[in-house]
Amino acid sequence: MNILILGSGGREHAFAWKLAQSKKVGKLFIAPGNAGTALVGTNVSISATDFEAIKKYVLDNEIKMIVVGPEDPLVKGVHDFFLNDAQLKTIPVIGPQKDGAQLEGSKDFSKQFMFRHNIPTARYETFTKDTLAEGLKFLETLTPPFVLKADGLAAGKGVVIPTTLSEAKSELTEMLANAKFGNASSKVVIEEFLKGIELSVFVLTDGNSYKILPSAKDYKRIGEGDTGLNTGGMGAVSPVPFADADFIKKVEERVIIPTIKGLKQEGITYKGFIFIGLMNMDGEPKVIEYNVRMGDPETEVVIPRIKSDLLDLFEGVGNGTLHEKTFETDSRFATAVMLVAGGYPEEYLKGDVMTGFDKVVDSLAFHAGTRQDGNNIVTNGGRVLAITSFGDTMEEALKKSFANAEQIQYKGKYYRRDIGNDLK
Ligand code: AMP
Ligand code: GLY
Repeated sequence: MNILILGSGGREHAFAWKLAQSKKVGKLFIAPGNAGTALVGTNVSISATDFEAIKKYVLDNEIKMIVVGPEDPLVKGVHDFFLNDAQLKTIPVIGPQKDGAQLEGSKDFSKQFMFRHNIPTARYETFTKDTLAEGLKFLETLTPPFVLKADGLAAGKGVVIPTTLSEAKSELTEMLANAKFGNASSKVVIEEFLKGIELSVFVLTDGNSYKILPSAKDYKRIGEGDTGLNTGGMGAVSPVPFADADFIKKVEERVIIPTIKGLKQEGITYKGFIFIGLMNMDGEPKVIEYNVRMGDPETEVVIPRIKSDLLDLFEGVGNGTLHEKTFETDSRFATAVMLVAGGYPEEYLKGDVMTGFDKVVDSLAFHAGTRQDGNNIVTNGGRVLAITSFGDTMEEALKKSFANAEQIQYKGKYYRRDIGNDLK
């Protein structure tokens, strides 16, 4: 079976790497892909949101399944586009339709959804430009820090957590009155600050049954000790030691089951991944957010820990037989350390030659922002490469990831050396 993966990051390299191991996979295409995906499949120079170009390529190359990596094509309706096209409608798309994608595409929708279905989450209120005055008053009723979220997609930058009331008020005004995040901040969700330790749980569903994938913890800030600006993610660890069977059972009963039931009740057919961002508050899970895709770099530790055939699972998602599929995971720890470009997450260098890939031993190098340039692999993004390793202990896995991170060379290389420290 020929498959097309949409996206170009470490997540998509990890999907491609895993799918390439399936005996059922024929040709594997990645649009647009990176230098890493080209090692396991064929890169196609089409944007993940150019639906017409995707259609032509799918028909010309007898592609029989689409796996969507990022949220953007989902929120823009790539799945709906396939279902509404006579020639494409029988081709399964792994990822929800537009209605389900609102769980990530609109913070207001996702908060309302959680409240409708009694899913534990922070208290909140939503404001628009017309209700800015009420929003400013509402802030006065809260205790700092304040959590302000642009309703729509804002490239991961839409959440602001000011520590003083005056900062919170000016931030809210910027977002609503001055469209700080454009249309994405035409509505702003203000919510209660949750104190605890974050983790993510991932679910794969065909809309009825589900598989709970390994848990993971991401490291979001650029600086060691969780300091500095937010990034897409600087590393990941799976499993999360404190997310034991009891905790996951609470997540399943209080979050996963009501989420899947709730979607069904609302007439939303959801086929794909649900990424549940959680706060562990003294053993009690509360949902911070949903994403309608896998995380990056979480995928680079979660997917390698899945022993079962990923295409077999995806087929189950497509045709509603996920409950018949076996799902096995590797009990070892997996860790990913993300190498980034100098300057990231602000303006960063691009096009620098990378060396040392041949010196990486006993780890996987998942390419995030790389590009083939003649005979060279060059940097082509803020997050460049995820080094994933296994170990019977987290320490053992981390040791390998750090040692191999040293082997890769390029100008301005940076990575956090404290991934996993908070879990030891
Ligand atoms: P999000 O884009 O919703 O993942 O938010 C980005 C980050 O903001 C999260 O990963 C959390 O670290 C933090 N965050 C979001 N909502 C809350 C909250 N209610 N309380 C505390 N931290 C939060
Ligand atoms: N690593 C966080 C995300 O993918 O949203």
